[in-house]
Amino acid sequence: MLSNASVWPSPPPYSLVGKHGVSPETRHDERARFNFLAQLNAHLAANILPGNARAYETRAKPIFEREHQRAPQDRHEVRRAMLKDPHFQMWSALRRSSMELRQQAGRELVLRQLGQINRNAAALNADSPRLKLDPNFEAPTYLTKVDHHCMPGGYFTELAADDVSAAANYDVGIFATTAGGLGRYNDGAGHAVSGWLKAHYPNFKPKRVLDLGCGLGHSLLPVAQAYPEAEFVALDAAAPLLRFAHARAKSMGVHNITFVEANAENVPEADASFDLIFTTMFLHETSNKAIRRVLAETHRLSKTGSLIIHLEQPQFAGLSPYEQFMRDWDALYNNEPFWTGMHDMDMDALLEEAGFDRQKIFIDKADAVVDEEIFGKPKAQVEDYGRKASWHLFGVIK
Ligand SMILES: C[S@@+](CC[C@H](N)C(=O)[O-])C[C@H]1O[C@@H](n2cnc3c(N)ncnc32)[C@H](O)[C@@H]1O
Repeated sequence: MLSNASVWPSPPPYSLVGKHGVSPETRHDERARFNFLAQLNAHLAANILPGNARAYETRAKPIFEREHQRAPQDRHEVRRAMLKDPHFQMWSALRRSSMELRQQAGRELVLRQLGQINRNAAALNADSPRLKLDPNFEAPTYLTKVDHHCMPGGYFTELAADDVSAAANYDVGIFATTAGGLGRYNDGAGHAVSGWLKAHYPNFKPKRVLDLGCGLGHSLLPVAQAYPEAEFVALDAAAPLLRFAHARAKSMGVHNITFVEANAENVPEADASFDLIFTTMFLHETSNKAIRRVLAETHRLSKTGSLIIHLEQPQFAGLSPYEQFMRDWDALYNNEPFWTGMHDMDMDALLEEAGFDRQKIFIDKADAVVDEEIFGKPKAQVEDYGRKASWHLFGVIK
């Protein structure tokens, strides 16, 4: 098969992206740029990416085998072989460039209206008991020292008082990077989690729920809406994201969440105080030491019988050296320094080390659930190593 275009849905137009109370305004040319980037990302995934496997099998691997009289044995050897291949060089450069372009496109339009976006957020956040920021909080350096996924200034840069520009940029551009794969409100992962919970635990009625590393609340809101009687605590280390997340949730009519600025390694909540703790696309942004502390916190904070759920891209164990090499791309070229470290870990061993019973660990798959009126019925997507809106959902019952 030369192309995967038939199974990769064409991204919907940017004009269909869901709006809320802190959405940046976009002009015609800005929407056109995001449309171009969404189409470019879909084209890269459907038509250019598959050429890497052919380049490996027909060029890079035979060359390696001639030189070493054996096949590449791990992702490092695959990388050494592939770095010289022109097809991989082209795909990798385009994928990196599309991310840089998205970030700069988002930053430009956010800076143009910085004052207005910050005023919109401030009006929604004023005197709210549901936004708990700590002016003395110090975020961990594994977060502050990195511009994750090439975000200019990372999660923490503040250009004005009560700034939300980092979050506004993240929000306005993620649709382009995912080619719409997370849905209208970029909340397909949250719907995947709430759908999984309803399917597997139809009678579950959590009273208190904790989301660690909530970010802008994209994945949080569908879970909070699925359990309107429950009290949610959403924790993140980045104040600009929390201001935005609180304002966004309020403007979307979701009122059962308290947003807290704190470190997930040291959560300011009592022992055994949550029935459900979940994380989405979070563990890979911590660190080798921090992930152990975070998992230990989930053990301390949960009750006997509580559910702990994590959503991430698949672990590397059991994947071919070629697939591991492809999945390593985000660590090397997308400013995700702990990406491969985390995906290489033995999660069962880590959960056991954190105090959980190995027998009560589970793992499943979860695909993004997106708005059918825009995207149509879900089709099988091609693999886009690290980008596909399809995850491993794993966790444990305490
Ligand atoms: C990729 S984002 C995912 C956000 C959100 N869960 C989602 O699904 O859209 C990861 C988030 O984890 C947060 N984070 C990473 N390490 C943290 C820590 N130690 N304590 C609190 N938040 C942390 C980052 O600030 C960032 O907002």
